[in-house]
Amino acid sequence: MKKIIVTGGAGFIGSHTVVELAAAGFTPVIVDNFSNSDRSALEGLKKIIGSEPVCYAIDGNDYAAMEEMFRKEGDVVGAIHFAAYKAVGESVQKPIDYFRNNLNSLLVLMDLMVKYKAPNLVFSSSCTVYGQPEKLPVNEQSPILPAQSPYGSTKQICEEIIKQTTSVKQPLKAISLRYFNPIGAHPSANIGELPIGTPNNLVPFITQSAVGLRPPVTVFGNDYNTPDGSCVRDYIHVVDLAKAHVKALQLLDKAEGTTYYDVFNVGTGRGNTVLEVIKAFEEATGKKLGYKIGPRRSGDVEKIYAEVEKSRDGLGWQAELSLQDGLRDAWRWQQKLTNNA
Ligand code: UD1
Repeated sequence: MKKIIVTGGAGFIGSHTVVELAAAGFTPVIVDNFSNSDRSALEGLKKIIGSEPVCYAIDGNDYAAMEEMFRKEGDVVGAIHFAAYKAVGESVQKPIDYFRNNLNSLLVLMDLMVKYKAPNLVFSSSCTVYGQPEKLPVNEQSPILPAQSPYGSTKQICEEIIKQTTSVKQPLKAISLRYFNPIGAHPSANIGELPIGTPNNLVPFITQSAVGLRPPVTVFGNDYNTPDGSCVRDYIHVVDLAKAHVKALQLLDKAEGTTYYDVFNVGTGRGNTVLEVIKAFEEATGKKLGYKIGPRRSGDVEKIYAEVEKSRDGLGWQAELSLQDGLRDAWRWQQKLTNNA
């Protein structure tokens, strides 16, 4: 049973990845300071995997606490680093917080991975590194364009730190996974997304609007150069996304030598507009959704979706679930939250 540290393991993508790690025979060790996650995720995980995962309620920036965790756990073989600040708008207000938290926690983790000989790192990156792409779909060779926000900049810089560090002789191998737009929840509805306050992301806003917690959805702009004028994104089911992390760890484990770094897109290869997502939600759930058209949101990219050949051939991974699956599972999770409230 190979032990893997999962920073941010109580969060949305982290918790789903803990499920897939356990199913694949790994022993996940969660590190989470619960600043943007909830302890109830641990109970949800217990229902799915049969026992509560080991969890350290510590901050990834706290070197001493992280080192104590490495020492206690002993035979760790790698880490998946999810824990980070992730709100684009907030990052513009608090750039220093974003740079300090997102860069420093990575440095602490990498330092300890080298020291404690846990060589395999999977990093949570984002398609935001491509900025506003000129050519679609984007592949891993597409240019890294100027970041639109400090948040996006932290992802670019973290990727660069990992690339530089793994290119010199260090016992550290790494893969950055560039996520497109994660949606959905575990089909059991025991874990899912738990946004604090008003959701910034489209799908949690839709599900909260559908239960009456929020007003009708505002579509941010319908005058883009897209089939219906609203923005295009590549919506990937969180369970599919979680499975890509297991594949990445397995690839790292097999990689020869002590230095290895690669980058993979994790998307479906399909783009959908905001209006298509609203329609698909209505179809998948039978629930009518009110919406209105509003102005563009500043910083939004017009359209982006993934080229998926490299992850299919290199990782041996591809998305299996549909947009409808994601919306149905997100809705099931929202209904459970609402019924338990
Ligand atoms: C962005 C980043 C992504 C990052 C994420 C973090 C890009 C291409 N993507 O995702 O890397 O991880 O932020 O939050 O930079 N929308 C509405 N009404 C709403 C909410 C959203 O119309 O109430 C639209 C947006 O304009 C966008 C789409 O829905 O076109 C998806 O938005 P959102 O879920 O916020 O994700 P991104 O902005 O694509």
